[in-house]
Amino acid sequence: YNSLGINENGVLTISGVDAVLLAKIYGTPLYVIDEAEIIRRCNEIRESHIEKYGGRAVYASKAFLNKEMCRIIERQGLGLDVVSGGELYTARAANFPMERIIFHGNNKSLNELEMAVELGVGRIVIDNFYEIDNLNYIVKSKNKKIDVQIRINPGIDGHTHEFIKTGHVDSKFGFPLFDDSAFFAVKSVLESSLLNLKGLHLHLGSQLHQKDVYVRAVTVLAEFIKRIKDELNYEIEEINLGGGFGIFYTEDDSRKFINYFTDAINISVIKEFNRLGLKRPIVYIEPGRWIIGEAGFTIYTVGAIKEIKDVRKYIGVDGGMADNPRPPLYGAKYLALLANKITEVEEEVVTIAGKCCESGDILIRDISLPKVESGDILVVLSTGAYNYSMASNYNRLPRPAVVLVNNGNHRLIVKRETYEDLIRNDI
Ligand code: LLP
Repeated sequence: YNSLGINENGVLTISGVDAVLLAKIYGTPLYVIDEAEIIRRCNEIRESHIEKYGGRAVYASKAFLNKEMCRIIERQGLGLDVVSGGELYTARAANFPMERIIFHGNNKSLNELEMAVELGVGRIVIDNFYEIDNLNYIVKSKNKKIDVQIRINPGIDGHTHEFIKTGHVDSKFGFPLFDDSAFFAVKSVLESSLLNLKGLHLHLGSQLHQKDVYVRAVTVLAEFIKRIKDELNYEIEEINLGGGFGIFYTEDDSRKFINYFTDAINISVIKEFNRLGLKRPIVYIEPGRWIIGEAGFTIYTVGAIKEIKDVRKYIGVDGGMADNPRPPLYGAKYLALLANKITEVEEEVVTIAGKCCESGDILIRDISLPKVESGDILVVLSTGAYNYSMASNYNRLPRPAVVLVNNGNHRLIVKRETYEDLIRNDI
């Protein structure tokens, strides 16, 4: 991790800030986001996709979103992928440029679509026939033209957890290619004078580690675009390959530079579109996890420790599935460090248990750590993506605060929820 270090007191640092100090100042559980790492990753994307190949990149905001994150992404020159009125509202509240927004969703409501058209988002990605009708109705009644991409279901299996695959045949997302729905969708959008068809979109799944699925997707798109050109006399200018680029959580995952994916994608775009005599399209990517995942850390304080003789030693922490539902939901694995014992040797295998009232609330099963004691500060790694954004108030636990760190500086970007917040909407 670029973000981690050890200071002169032998304490773990995150972007140069003492993790134990962060726990003292802001309390725990605490999400810590390293802005320097986000910037480093955005630079990598700019160099190896935008500048090198003339591509475009939008950050998938479902991974982690708040107003400050919008501002960071805005400054980095990337666009934003939103999937709901709430995400769009957040972007608007942060003054994010609307023309850089891509609006996704498999069941956008009329209100959400109206909001998107009204605000003038850059692209709406159409997912189904119902949406074509709704969007036609809205653009006609407002007499406003809107640029769209059409999401196709390519029928490609992304080799990842069942819940986070999206491009396989039996998927709720996009227009299937194999039964010609996608072709009819293109035809129907082309018939509408106010829907301006810019591109085709697909998303294969999340936490993918193999570039070959993206290469296959490029071929599928190129062939479909060729058919559209031949049969409908229309040449599609943009393709959007979605996100899904895998990151490091444990030794099971290898850490990859973004060019592992972007070179493969762009080279096959050049080859395939050439082969079919098509104009080279503008290529969009939509990384979420890859940008924010490894830039995020969660700090907990160790409380109750329970040793069941010859069975297991449970280390209780002050958070759990309410701030990180990924282990119970996907069987996701994480690594952790003891911030105040970072220089000590690993001595025991323990299980990190959350504080929610169910046995499934285990953050990490069987991890080697230095001898753990109550009051120790535990830092779980790679929690930037889909942790804060999927956090809940289960057991009426207030959501933790989020602190932004950057080369020795730290500041609060999202306040910790209070008990008052928990009953705010109760009548
Ligand atoms: N674009 C589209 C259309 C998507 O549906 C997604 C993720 C992304 C981009 C970004 O994917 P990423 O680069 O972050 O892998 N909650 C799950 C992940 C769900 C991802 C859903 N779609 C998890 O915690 O693993």
